[in-house]
Amino acid sequence: MDILLIGSGGREHALAWKLAQSARCNKLYCAPGNAGIEEQAQCAPIEVHEIDKIVSFVKEKNIDFVIVGPETPLVDGMADPFLAQGIPVFGPDKKAAQLEGSKGFMKDLCAKYDIPSAKYGRFKILDDAQKFIEETGAPIVVKTDGLAAGKGVIICETTDQAVEAARGMLEDAMFGDAGTEIIIEEFLEGEEVSFFALADGKTVLPLASAQDHKRVGDGDTGLNTGGMGAYSPAHFMTAEMEKQIIEDLIEPTIAGMTAEGCPFTGVLFAGLMVKDGKAKLLEYNVRFGDPECQSLMMRLEGDLVDILYAAAQGRLEEIKDQVTWSDNAAMCVVMASNGYPESYEKNTPIRGLDEANAVDEAYVFHAGTKRDENGGIVSFGGRVLGVTAKGKTIAQAQKRAYEAVDKIDWPKGFCRHDIGWRAL
Ligand code: AMP
Ligand code: GLY
Repeated sequence: MDILLIGSGGREHALAWKLAQSARCNKLYCAPGNAGIEEQAQCAPIEVHEIDKIVSFVKEKNIDFVIVGPETPLVDGMADPFLAQGIPVFGPDKKAAQLEGSKGFMKDLCAKYDIPSAKYGRFKILDDAQKFIEETGAPIVVKTDGLAAGKGVIICETTDQAVEAARGMLEDAMFGDAGTEIIIEEFLEGEEVSFFALADGKTVLPLASAQDHKRVGDGDTGLNTGGMGAYSPAHFMTAEMEKQIIEDLIEPTIAGMTAEGCPFTGVLFAGLMVKDGKAKLLEYNVRFGDPECQSLMMRLEGDLVDILYAAAQGRLEEIKDQVTWSDNAAMCVVMASNGYPESYEKNTPIRGLDEANAVDEAYVFHAGTKRDENGGIVSFGGRVLGVTAKGKTIAQAQKRAYEAVDKIDWPKGFCRHDIGWRAL
């Protein structure tokens, strides 16, 4: 079939790489894609927010299947026109995408269906928020209800800080419309882990675990980022914990969404906090994680087209056995532009990618790259490359990933040197 993949990040390059390996994939298009995705797909210069243009493109090219990578278009309703026209699409509709698009919606669902999560309150008025903060005490977490490009979560050490964060969101519009309503919640201690599962409104198909590294600096220091590296599986995940995550969190969520009249189709990415072997939900995302996806795709042994298409068609039950995972571990080390996550230079030349790809079991996924007028690869974003490798152990995957990093000649980029440290 002819497939359109929407997005332009490292996650989408990993998806394109895996989709292109499927015998069922005829023509693969990507909008807008990046310089790396061009290896696997024909890129079309349409941005992810241009929903009407994407719909026209799908009709013009007679696309059989649409796969949406990032959250913003899903929350904006990218899947809806395809569903209305009977074109199979992987990703939730606008109503179901609220699981990520509105933290209040997600928290209310957890409360109603007894899904373990932090205690919380929803607020539009500062005085009410302040009262709740003073009653709860610190540390405490203040969040925008809506999407704020990963920046709308403020962890506060004192109640004064929390009141200031709430004021910034509610009264000073620090995060624009995303913060006209806020969530204030209890601070959870523990170790963070991500778990991924597919759903088609009825069936849950558990995928795998991963662990991300959100801070920009070695030793988990410095500013928060979209993720500087990830590996899969998470080192402390046990079969018992996986069972608890599926039974106490994922299944009641999918059943609850259906009961609420918004059945969920797509991938559910649970951000979890684990303490004493029990997981509580921090957040749901309605798409694959980036860079978690890069590690997952390296470990997935099934046919990704079959799997995602079955989810889109409500046939996950039929293909459950096809989803198998390599016993090997995979690790993705993100290379970012110097300065990220603050301001950085674009259009800086990157060399050595072929040499990096020649490292055993390694592949460099592109996140923010494009070709310059001479055909060379240049940076075009904050997170630029996801240098990913597989190995028998996390240690071997790490060794190979950094061996590949060392082949890359990009003076204007950097990476963390300790991805996987918790596991090792
Ligand atoms: P979120 O976007 O909700 O995942 O929040 C971003 C990050 O903030 C998470 O990955 C956690 O590290 C942290 N975080 C969010 N909520 C809490 C919480 N209730 N307790 C502790 N840390 C939190
Ligand atoms: N790596 C975290 C995310 O994709 O949200």
